[in-house]
Amino acid sequence: MGVYYVLSVYLHIVLAAFWIGGMLFLPLVLLPSIKNNPTRVELLYKTGLTFRFFGWMSLGGLLVTGLLNMYAKGIPFSLEFLAGNSFGRVLGIKIVLFVVMLLIAGIHDFYVGERAIMQMKESEKKRLKQFAKWSGRINLLLALAIAFLGVAFSRGLRVF
Ligand code: HEM
Repeated sequence: MGVYYVLSVYLHIVLAAFWIGGMLFLPLVLLPSIKNNPTRVELLYKTGLTFRFFGWMSLGGLLVTGLLNMYAKGIPFSLEFLAGNSFGRVLGIKIVLFVVMLLIAGIHDFYVGERAIMQMKESEKKRLKQFAKWSGRINLLLALAIAFLGVAFSRGLRVF
């Protein structure tokens, strides 16, 4: 086993921890802590923008290290492997969920999030806030499922 492979898996795990940890930190730590703060919306906006930057860095890093892990393990990036057998399908499902998560994160981060903040500043309307909240929650669940599939794949779990 080469040192670059170990480094790539290590980075993959650290980035996954950052991405999932950041998504948990916001609702569990930040939001309750600033609940009664008069500058709450502004704080949420600034924190959201900063996490958006580092979050997308970590997603890019997860893709690169994920592909490196595949290369190091000699796994082909082919439909035949990712859909054609019960071992490959664990990784195939993981990649599909990753793409879905990217789409939701894109909508959440670049469309709904900022508009929801504007709406919260201007009126009592909560429609976009609810959308931002639920898309964030769905993405957290997706990320947890993706991490589970990563661990399962590493240990040779087979499905279907
Ligand atoms: C949010 C996105 C992702 C998360 C949270 C995530 C998480 C994980 C975790 C926790 C592991 C287990 C490591 C271990 O137990 O040793 C793993 C392994 C792996 N991941 Fe990901 N991953 C993500 C995206 C990707 C992507 C996009 C790819 C491929 C294009 C990928 C390919 C792999 C591979 C091949 C392994 C097996 C590594 C090995 O056993 O050497 N991952 N991932």
